[in-house]
Amino acid sequence: MNAGILGLGRYLPEKIVTNADLEKVMDTSDEWIRTRTGIEQRRIANDDIDTSDMAYEAATAALKNADVSAEEIDLILVATVTPDRPFPSMACVIQERLGAKKAAAMDVSAACAGFMYAMITAQQFIQTGVYKNVLIVGVEKLSKITNWDDRNTAVLFGDGAGAAVVGPVSEGRGILSFELGADGSGGKHLLQDGEYITMNGREVFKFAVRQMGESSLNVLDKAGLKKEDVDLLVPHQANIRIMEASRERLGLPVEKMAKTVHKYGNTSAASIPIALVEEMEAGKIKEDDLIVMVGFGGGLTWGAIALRWGK
Ligand code: UT7
Repeated sequence: MNAGILGLGRYLPEKIVTNADLEKVMDTSDEWIRTRTGIEQRRIANDDIDTSDMAYEAATAALKNADVSAEEIDLILVATVTPDRPFPSMACVIQERLGAKKAAAMDVSAACAGFMYAMITAQQFIQTGVYKNVLIVGVEKLSKITNWDDRNTAVLFGDGAGAAVVGPVSEGRGILSFELGADGSGGKHLLQDGEYITMNGREVFKFAVRQMGESSLNVLDKAGLKKEDVDLLVPHQANIRIMEASRERLGLPVEKMAKTVHKYGNTSAASIPIALVEEMEAGKIKEDDLIVMVGFGGGLTWGAIALRWGK
């Protein structure tokens, strides 16, 4: 049984924080942030909206888009590194709020690559026929672990959620190939140390440029496809320079790469599903389009998926 995307949803907090707003509270500039990262603004959740609230909103939208009811969900996977609290899991919290009574539920911790890990975990259960509908959510409230006195990291991140219902699709469609990987020796370059995120930006940058390109090519190779076959690249939205390097490695024109980093910054596990929903809503995805999704993150972790769109 092939596993594919049956529906997508997203949630973004209303509050917009622009680069000009950050200039007022730290030693940075709109020019630096835009040229080094491509970010112009980000969404920041108010205190009364926590990670599970954003996950719930995105999940509700995805179920509606998929035309699948909460009772039909067999498994919920929430990819996040910023849960409301260590347990109960975010998956259990939204299971109750959605009324997904028969669903098993757990969280996935793979930082910015979390949505890729969750999607492939879902695929395994669907392929084997064990489960039919799996709800996956990538959600992050990074603002609560951001050190607003550290300009090296504070300008990069944003809050948000993206969700997908993954289920059986017809032959030739859905997930065609994937690659997941990890290198714990690089964990020191990007981590939560005490209360806050700390990062060696240059090391993460080098790793990301290399890995995003390689993983994208690897999934095409595994699926027996060529760079020219790709209709849409959906890279993790961390930094426009990293994204552009992946696009160039695949030899794709600008219009074939999903881009939300300028509006939302880096929303970690939420960035790939949010970017994918926006492409879908803009009518830019057609039946049988070949989509390559690729992400990297703290761990270090990475993941890529080649997917043929449609049910
Ligand atoms: O989901 C994964 C999350 N992480 C990432 O994706 C991070 C990957 N890395 C990056 O995106 C880039 O390395 C950064 C955007 C973080 C930094 O860009 P860079 O071109 O690697 O800059 P840099 O670290 O080499 O810093 C250049 C200068 C430094 O000043 P000096 O030492 O050369 O005088 C920094 O102190 O820029 C300074 N700087 C800033 N200046 C103004 C660092 N942050 C800022 C800032 N505003 N916000």
